[in-house]
Amino acid sequence: MDKYIEEQSRIIKARVENKPVLLLISGGVDSTVAGALLLKVLDKSQVHLMYMDTGLMRKNETEAVRAILEKLGAENIHIVMAENEFLSALKGITDPEEKRRVIGDMYITIQEREVARLHLPQDYFLAQGSIRADFLESGQGGEKKTNVVKSHHNIASPLVIAKREAGRILEPLASLYKNEVRELGRCLGIDEEIVSRHPFPGPGISVRILGEVTKEKCEILREADAIYIEELRKRRSKSGKSLYDEIWQAFSVLLPVRSVGVDKSAERRYGWVLALRAITSADGMTACVYPFEMHDLLEISSRITNSVKEIGRVTYDISNKPPATIEWE
Ligand code: XMP
Repeated sequence: MDKYIEEQSRIIKARVENKPVLLLISGGVDSTVAGALLLKVLDKSQVHLMYMDTGLMRKNETEAVRAILEKLGAENIHIVMAENEFLSALKGITDPEEKRRVIGDMYITIQEREVARLHLPQDYFLAQGSIRADFLESGQGGEKKTNVVKSHHNIASPLVIAKREAGRILEPLASLYKNEVRELGRCLGIDEEIVSRHPFPGPGISVRILGEVTKEKCEILREADAIYIEELRKRRSKSGKSLYDEIWQAFSVLLPVRSVGVDKSAERRYGWVLALRAITSADGMTACVYPFEMHDLLEISSRITNSVKEIGRVTYDISNKPPATIEWE
């Protein structure tokens, strides 16, 4: 990875020279590592980091992202609050690919508006934290073209295509797998807690809310998921590692299904159904279900249904990839 940093440093400096670089930060590991790399090899004043709070982020994500970027020494951090715009655009949409398209388009629309406000010269570079798996699963696998499983908006957007055609795109992680991105992050001095954070999709929790995405559903999912992740961080596996570190990716999915239940005073409840997902994987291309100890699942389920009153039932997803994908949408 030290060699990789040297090599990328040469490539990036030669291409970019003194032009500004705008990196779109998603809050995930990949774009954070891409940001750290750019901040290391370029002049910090050249690097503009734009993060959009789409309203589809995890709990307290925006504050956490700001803190990480400041710690990396970023000078130009642009945080855009766009929850209302995204949720309005998503109103009434239930089809997964349509959701991804709407989010991608909205992201670009807002990004173009916000970039214009930065008054960057026309020839600025657009950087992205896309990794190898993003290309493979977007049907751009090079010689061996794969089918489109899910569209990844960070690859196919018109702005990215235009910038690519103009030779103004930087994707310094494009040849790396997730585990290599983490290794690179460690070499760049990023905190272990951030480097080992589970992957998070570009379209955020919209792909974890099946059916229509509403603010209320986002809040229910965020609360439940924060409890799930907190429990995984504090529980230990037999190896002594936290369950969070043992698992490659874990998250909650809110199903468009309500189910009858009963509360402590025997009143009927009609709550939402939440699915928990936890998988082990090397790179996200294939995945195995994490074999929890049953008591962990039972205790996590109880804590969620006791704390999030809108959720009446919790299930565990026991499907490997393939045939299932990791995300539900
Ligand atoms: P799937 O669900 O396709 O996911 O098995 C493989 C890995 O990719 C993440 N993922 C995404 N990441 N934009 C992203 O940046 C996306 O649209 C997207 N969809 C899925 C997923 O979380 C998993 O780690």
